[in-house]
Amino acid sequence: MSNKPALLITRKLSDKTEARATRDYDVRLNPDDQLYSADELLQKCQSVDAILPCHSEIFNAEFVMRLPPQIKIIANHSVGVDHCDLPALRAREIVVTNTPDVLSDATAEIAMLLLLGAARRASEGDRLVRSGNWQHWSPSFMVGTQVTGKRIGIVGMGRVGQVMARRARGFEMEVHYFNRRRLSSDLEHGAIYHDNLDGLLGVSDFLSLHCPATPETAGFLTAAKIGLMPDGAIIVNTARGALIDETALVSALKSGRVASAGLDVFCYEPGGNPAFSDLDNVFMLPHIGSATSETRDAMGFRALDNLDAFFAGRSPLDRVA
Ligand code: DGY
Repeated sequence: MSNKPALLITRKLSDKTEARATRDYDVRLNPDDQLYSADELLQKCQSVDAILPCHSEIFNAEFVMRLPPQIKIIANHSVGVDHCDLPALRAREIVVTNTPDVLSDATAEIAMLLLLGAARRASEGDRLVRSGNWQHWSPSFMVGTQVTGKRIGIVGMGRVGQVMARRARGFEMEVHYFNRRRLSSDLEHGAIYHDNLDGLLGVSDFLSLHCPATPETAGFLTAAKIGLMPDGAIIVNTARGALIDETALVSALKSGRVASAGLDVFCYEPGGNPAFSDLDNVFMLPHIGSATSETRDAMGFRALDNLDAFFAGRSPLDRVA
């Protein structure tokens, strides 16, 4: 019998992550990358001390109540922890960690891709050429919105938001932000702070969301809030679908009040929202903000660093509960 802690890894992770986990833990892998139902997951949890899940596994209060008593830590392979009911896990004295920092560059890259793609009609153009139906060109053809020099509003100026601000400055954008706390001036790099969301929305030619989904932020981008944005604004979301009232966004996209949107995340995943699929002015990706091989290795290693610290009797660096 192994004296290493028993660890359940719920999804197929990078080869380097799985090799290190196999070296250091009595590990249960998921080589077929099967998405476990709640009952299957619960069954897999019966014989382990620790779980390394992704945002695809839901630890709601009811599920947490059913976890076996020997589970000591959930070391998430994600920065977002909205799939975990943190108060319920605290009540069970189960430690929870996440993987901040290491995915900021990759996520900001996708946010910038979505921003540019939404502004310059990338998915519409790609579809046209790909379908073989591109039969016309004129100066009035597929005219989009210029990005350079415009104002970008960033909601949530944490690690990803700050990288996004740097990328936006590369396009000479004027950076505005709303955050729970104002950043120190050395981190602001000239970005303009708004102490309320409405003020930020009013100046956001482009809006990029980088805040966590919590009970306070869920559904915050309502029809009324969208109505505060400049006409023809562009909305980008790489954070969580739950931040946006999707029905309101669909209406605003149909009316042209919002010119276009770039979305990597949706209220329902996988699958997304079919109402967006009918609209040419939406550029969509399937939640791949952090999906680079470099970042996947870094996320896996960060989750293992947290487990190593915990089982060595130290406080994990990224403890969130
Ligand atoms: C995260 O880390 O939260 C990403 O959304 C991938 O799970």
